[in-house]
Amino acid sequence: MRSMKVVVLTGAGISAESGIKTFRDKDGLWENHRIDEVATPNAWKLNPKLVWEFYQERRRQMSEVNPNPAHVALAKLELGVENFTLITQNVDDLHERGGSNSILHMHGRLQTLRCEDSGEIEHRMDDADLSDEYALCNCCVKPSRMRPDIVWFGEIPMYMSEINDAVNSCDVFIVVGSSGQVYPAADLAYHAKSIGANTILVNYDPPVNVGDFNEVHLGKAGEILPHLVDKWLNDEEVKSGTIRIG
Ligand code: OAD
Repeated sequence: MRSMKVVVLTGAGISAESGIKTFRDKDGLWENHRIDEVATPNAWKLNPKLVWEFYQERRRQMSEVNPNPAHVALAKLELGVENFTLITQNVDDLHERGGSNSILHMHGRLQTLRCEDSGEIEHRMDDADLSDEYALCNCCVKPSRMRPDIVWFGEIPMYMSEINDAVNSCDVFIVVGSSGQVYPAADLAYHAKSIGANTILVNYDPPVNVGDFNEVHLGKAGEILPHLVDKWLNDEEVKSGTIRIG
């Protein structure tokens, strides 16, 4: 276990029990908003106010929610293994607040905003930054409008080189709370399995890529994951690195 390389990919399902809506479940975000109206570069060009207000509402919500036992379990797993990478599609900060370190936010983050002119990122979560007025940057001589620091559909996810390196050399690949419908994230389990990694899924429903997993645990991540992590970390054979998690 100590020498094993463990990579975890999380999706909206891990934050569901904290009170953040997923995208594709019943009453999910994409049931009430059209992706092309709020989550594409073209939407920002055509109707920035609608896009801004959509993300401002989500930025404000962050102070009202807390990490749940699934976030905390992943922080515990990180401490128990020597080589650990956490990749998340989530833009909330619940992994950080749950105790995880070095998180690769492949779809961006809600706490930061990006200058439209220079591309500089600023941490902007003061009260004034959370209103429906546009935020202006601190980096340009004539302050420019800032956009959400989110990867929209049609844009390239962040940290892809680090992510591919981690997945291409992992021993264990664990997915928590993702429907497997958005690429390239959805392909990572397939890649991990194809290089011989043990692929493990913790998800409420079977996702479309369920066939890419050696081991499937269906149910709520906050209920299932803490037990799985304890089992993995307490397994003597796993501890000594002689068998694979699972
Ligand atoms: P989805 O909303 O597509 O899928 C959430 C998954 O979590 C579903 O398969 C649910 O069954 C599962 N789920 C729900 N509650 C759960 C719980 N308590 N425990 C475990 N699993 C649970 O979310 P993602 O797969 O993360 O991208 O979506 C991927 C990307 O699509 C997002 O990052 C976002 C979205 O459009 C962008 O906005 C760029």
